[in-house]
Amino acid sequence: MSHSLDEFADRLQEEVNQEVIQKYGERVYERWSNPRFGGRMESPTGYGRVTGNCGDTMEIFLRLEGELVSDASFTTDGCGCSAVCASVACELAIGKEPEKVADVTGEMILQVLGGLPEDDVHCGFLAAKTLRAALSEIS
Ligand code: FES
Repeated sequence: MSHSLDEFADRLQEEVNQEVIQKYGERVYERWSNPRFGGRMESPTGYGRVTGNCGDTMEIFLRLEGELVSDASFTTDGCGCSAVCASVACELAIGKEPEKVADVTGEMILQVLGGLPEDDVHCGFLAAKTLRAALSEIS
């Protein structure tokens, strides 16, 4: 009984996975299923919190060591794409000087992901805006 329930759950999950891949592509799926840099950071050097027009709120935390961003993390109460975009924003920030991080745009985030459907493009711009908000505390 529980064995068939497990099989049903697995099949259902596989269907969801395939739908995500079909709609958003492999890169988004990979990051959606394995979101990196999620979570709050204790005593960050920089912190940004932005609520987008969609009503979702994103936070980005940055740690600066020497001249470089050594760590970054995010939270979001928004859609799956907001988590995926915030994850990319964190990745693009780590290992860079704050001046270079300031150059990270929504377009760059979307490019890393191979683009997003039109309805979700704004999630990338929210991530870039939140990253800049976090940076503004550092400089
Ligand atoms: Fe609000 Fe994606 S719908 S960030």
